[in-house]
Amino acid sequence: MKTIYLTGFMGSGKSAAGWIAANLLNVPCFDLDAVIEKNAGKTIKELFEQEGEASFRLRESVLLQKMPKENCVVITGGGLPADQNNREYMMGVGHVVYLKTSFKEIMKRLTAPGEIDKRPVLKEKTAEEIELLYNKRKSFYEECSMVIATDGKTPQQVAEEMVKAF
Ligand code: S3P
Repeated sequence: MKTIYLTGFMGSGKSAAGWIAANLLNVPCFDLDAVIEKNAGKTIKELFEQEGEASFRLRESVLLQKMPKENCVVITGGGLPADQNNREYMMGVGHVVYLKTSFKEIMKRLTAPGEIDKRPVLKEKTAEEIELLYNKRKSFYEECSMVIATDGKTPQQVAEEMVKAF
Protein backbone atom coordinates (compact mmCIF):
# COMPACT_ATOMS: atom_id res chain seq x y z
CA MET A 1 0.00 0.00 0.00
CA LYS A 2 1.19 3.49 -0.84
CA THR A 3 1.53 5.80 2.17
CA ILE A 4 -1.63 7.62 3.20
CA TYR A 5 -1.12 11.33 3.90
CA LEU A 6 -3.89 12.80 6.02
CA THR A 7 -4.60 16.48 5.48
CA GLY A 8 -7.15 19.00 6.68
CA PHE A 9 -7.54 22.16 8.69
CA MET A 10 -6.60 22.32 12.37
CA GLY A 11 -9.31 20.57 14.34
CA SER A 12 -10.45 18.33 11.48
CA GLY A 13 -9.55 15.24 13.51
CA LYS A 14 -6.51 14.07 11.52
CA SER A 15 -4.65 12.74 14.55
CA ALA A 16 -7.56 10.85 16.09
CA ALA A 17 -8.65 9.22 12.81
CA GLY A 18 -5.07 8.66 11.61
CA TRP A 19 -4.01 6.54 14.55
CA ILE A 20 -7.18 4.44 14.37
CA ALA A 21 -6.78 3.92 10.60
CA ALA A 22 -3.13 2.89 10.98
CA ASN A 23 -4.19 0.43 13.65
CA LEU A 24 -6.91 -1.02 11.43
CA LEU A 25 -4.46 -1.32 8.53
CA ASN A 26 -1.78 -2.67 10.85
CA VAL A 27 0.83 -0.18 9.63
CA PRO A 28 2.88 2.43 11.52
CA CYS A 29 1.58 5.95 11.97
CA PHE A 30 3.68 9.12 12.03
CA ASP A 31 2.27 12.39 13.30
CA LEU A 32 4.60 15.01 11.80
CA ASP A 33 3.92 17.60 14.51
CA ALA A 34 4.68 15.08 17.24
CA VAL A 35 7.88 13.91 15.50
CA ILE A 36 9.02 17.54 15.05
CA GLU A 37 8.39 18.22 18.75
CA LYS A 38 10.26 15.08 19.76
CA ASN A 39 13.25 15.81 17.48
CA ALA A 40 13.47 19.44 18.60
CA GLY A 41 12.79 18.77 22.26
CA LYS A 42 10.37 21.71 22.09
CA THR A 43 6.66 22.18 21.58
CA ILE A 44 5.38 23.66 18.31
CA LYS A 45 4.47 26.77 20.29
CA GLU A 46 8.05 27.11 21.57
CA LEU A 47 9.46 26.48 18.09
CA PHE A 48 7.32 29.27 16.62
CA GLU A 49 8.31 31.62 19.45
CA GLN A 50 12.02 30.83 19.41
CA GLU A 51 12.78 30.04 15.75
CA GLY A 52 9.85 31.55 13.86
CA GLU A 53 7.29 30.04 11.52
CA ALA A 54 9.65 29.73 8.52
CA SER A 55 11.96 27.45 10.46
CA PHE A 56 9.00 25.27 11.52
CA ARG A 57 7.81 25.07 7.89
CA LEU A 58 11.23 23.96 6.78
CA ARG A 59 11.32 21.28 9.46
CA GLU A 60 7.94 19.90 8.40
CA SER A 61 8.78 19.88 4.66
CA VAL A 62 12.10 18.10 5.27
CA LEU A 63 10.50 15.59 7.60
CA LEU A 64 7.66 14.88 5.16
CA GLN A 65 10.14 13.54 2.63
CA LYS A 66 11.85 11.36 5.22
CA MET A 67 8.68 9.39 5.90
CA PRO A 68 8.31 5.88 4.44
CA LYS A 69 6.69 5.93 1.01
CA GLU A 70 4.78 2.72 1.60
CA ASN A 71 2.75 1.02 4.26
CA CYS A 72 2.22 3.83 6.68
CA VAL A 73 -0.11 6.65 7.65
CA VAL A 74 1.36 10.16 7.89
CA ILE A 75 -0.62 12.80 9.79
CA THR A 76 0.30 16.24 8.47
CA GLY A 77 -0.07 19.63 10.13
CA GLY A 78 -2.86 21.84 8.81
CA GLY A 79 -0.45 24.24 7.11
CA LEU A 80 1.70 21.70 5.28
CA PRO A 81 -0.41 21.53 2.07
CA ALA A 82 -0.17 25.33 1.72
CA ASP A 83 3.24 24.64 0.20
CA GLN A 84 2.97 23.57 -3.43
CA ASN A 85 6.08 21.36 -3.26
CA ASN A 86 4.58 19.47 -0.33
CA ARG A 87 1.32 18.95 -2.22
CA GLU A 88 3.09 17.72 -5.32
CA TYR A 89 5.32 15.44 -3.30
CA MET A 90 2.41 13.79 -1.46
CA MET A 91 0.34 13.35 -4.62
CA GLY A 92 3.33 11.89 -6.42
CA VAL A 93 4.14 9.40 -3.70
CA GLY A 94 0.95 8.30 -2.01
CA HIS A 95 -2.74 8.67 -1.30
CA VAL A 96 -3.74 12.08 0.02
CA VAL A 97 -6.86 11.97 2.15
CA TYR A 98 -8.48 15.30 3.00
CA LEU A 99 -10.61 15.34 6.12
CA LYS A 100 -13.19 17.97 5.30
CA THR A 101 -14.85 19.58 8.29
CA SER A 102 -17.21 22.56 8.20
CA PHE A 103 -15.93 25.83 9.62
CA LYS A 104 -18.67 25.76 12.24
CA GLU A 105 -17.53 22.37 13.50
CA ILE A 106 -13.85 23.42 13.36
CA MET A 107 -14.59 26.42 15.57
CA LYS A 108 -16.50 24.26 18.01
CA ARG A 109 -13.46 22.02 18.38
CA LEU A 110 -10.82 24.75 18.40
CA THR A 111 -12.55 26.72 21.10
CA ALA A 112 -12.31 23.79 23.53
CA PRO A 113 -9.86 24.59 26.39
CA GLY A 114 -6.17 24.58 25.34
CA GLU A 115 -6.75 24.05 21.62
CA ILE A 116 -6.03 27.60 20.44
CA ASP A 117 -3.11 27.97 22.82
CA LYS A 118 -1.18 25.05 21.36
CA ARG A 119 -1.59 26.35 17.79
CA PRO A 120 0.53 29.48 17.32
CA VAL A 121 -0.90 30.31 13.87
CA LEU A 122 -4.19 31.04 15.60
CA LYS A 123 -2.67 33.34 18.20
CA GLU A 124 -4.49 36.65 18.43
CA LYS A 125 -6.64 35.85 15.38
CA THR A 126 -10.32 36.72 15.35
CA ALA A 127 -12.91 34.16 14.21
CA GLU A 128 -13.15 36.12 10.93
CA GLU A 129 -9.40 35.83 10.37
CA ILE A 130 -9.47 32.10 11.08
CA GLU A 131 -12.31 31.74 8.58
CA LEU A 132 -10.25 33.60 5.96
CA LEU A 133 -7.37 31.18 6.53
CA TYR A 134 -9.81 28.22 6.34
CA ASN A 135 -11.18 29.46 3.01
CA LYS A 136 -7.73 30.18 1.62
CA ARG A 137 -6.49 26.69 2.43
CA LYS A 138 -9.57 24.84 1.14
CA SER A 139 -8.32 24.78 -2.45
CA PHE A 140 -4.96 23.38 -1.33
CA TYR A 141 -6.62 20.54 0.56
CA GLU A 142 -8.81 19.79 -2.44
CA GLU A 143 -5.75 18.69 -4.42
CA CYS A 144 -6.11 15.21 -3.00
CA SER A 145 -6.94 11.59 -3.82
CA MET A 146 -9.98 11.32 -1.57
CA VAL A 147 -12.21 13.60 0.50
CA ILE A 148 -13.89 12.40 3.68
CA ALA A 149 -16.54 14.68 5.18
CA THR A 150 -16.20 14.41 8.93
CA ASP A 151 -19.09 16.45 10.37
CA GLY A 152 -21.22 14.30 12.64
CA LYS A 153 -18.83 11.33 12.41
CA THR A 154 -16.67 9.82 15.12
CA PRO A 155 -12.92 9.35 14.48
CA GLN A 156 -13.63 5.60 14.31
CA GLN A 157 -16.19 6.10 11.53
CA VAL A 158 -13.82 8.38 9.61
CA ALA A 159 -10.99 5.85 9.94
CA GLU A 160 -13.21 2.97 8.79
CA GLU A 161 -14.31 4.97 5.75
CA MET A 162 -10.68 5.62 4.89
CA VAL A 163 -9.55 2.05 5.38
CA LYS A 164 -12.33 0.71 3.16
CA ALA A 165 -10.92 2.74 0.27
CA PHE A 166 -7.42 1.25 0.41
C1 S3P B 1 -0.63 24.42 11.79
C2 S3P B 1 -1.30 23.31 12.23
C3 S3P B 1 -0.81 22.51 13.36
C4 S3P B 1 0.71 22.62 13.49
C5 S3P B 1 1.13 24.04 13.56
C6 S3P B 1 0.69 24.83 12.33
C7 S3P B 1 -1.23 25.21 10.68
O1 S3P B 1 -1.20 21.15 13.19
O2 S3P B 1 1.34 21.97 12.41
O3 S3P B 1 0.60 24.60 14.73
O4 S3P B 1 -0.58 26.09 10.12
O5 S3P B 1 -2.41 24.91 10.33
P1 S3P B 1 -2.73 20.61 13.34
O6 S3P B 1 -3.38 20.76 12.01
O7 S3P B 1 -2.55 19.19 13.71
O8 S3P B 1 -3.36 21.42 14.41
